[in-house]
Amino acid sequence: MTTMLNKLSPSITRMIRMDHTHVLATFHRFTADTPADRKQAIVNTVCLALEIHAQLEEEIFYPALRSVATDEAVLAKSKPEHDEMRRLIGELRSLQPGDAAFDSTFQQLMRDVMHHVADEETVLLPAAERLLKDRLGELGAQMTKRRLQLAAPHTGEIASNTARAMPASTMVMAAGGLLAGGLLLKKALELRRH
Ligand SMILES: [Fe+2]
Ligand SMILES: [Fe+2]
Repeated sequence: MTTMLNKLSPSITRMIRMDHTHVLATFHRFTADTPADRKQAIVNTVCLALEIHAQLEEEIFYPALRSVATDEAVLAKSKPEHDEMRRLIGELRSLQPGDAAFDSTFQQLMRDVMHHVADEETVLLPAAERLLKDRLGELGAQMTKRRLQLAAPHTGEIASNTARAMPASTMVMAAGGLLAGGLLLKKALELRRH
């Protein structure tokens, strides 16, 4: 099982980048005129994704990096930045989309997240790819295993928030994308046959 997970899991740095992309893409659905129910679903999705992501980094990624790079200033401020993020998430959960502070608190959270993600993607991930080169796959598998445990109690919530966070037009686009992908795959297979 572990060996299979090692083979199937993306490397830890690829997985961290994918998480960042998912959070930012979800945030991009949030505009001033987004309906309240969708705003709430977007915020719920982002908050839970950030909490799980931060815990995974603190349990697996940061300790692994710390064991090979002790003097990394960016690494030292990462945990306090997660704590500040958790504080803002707590604040957001006490607010409703109609409240005056709802949008600005979410935007403040995302501004912090973008700075934090920029540091991780331009300093910590490249450092890990240099210093932990041989362990990236194994650490990715560890992260996948732990992610499944952390997400398990929230699966229903994640599915309903994801559906509510997505406007109908995006669903059509996503379906269109899948269709286009399918057609491309079919074309590629046909080309291989000739
Ligand atoms: Fe982080
Ligand atoms: Fe991160």
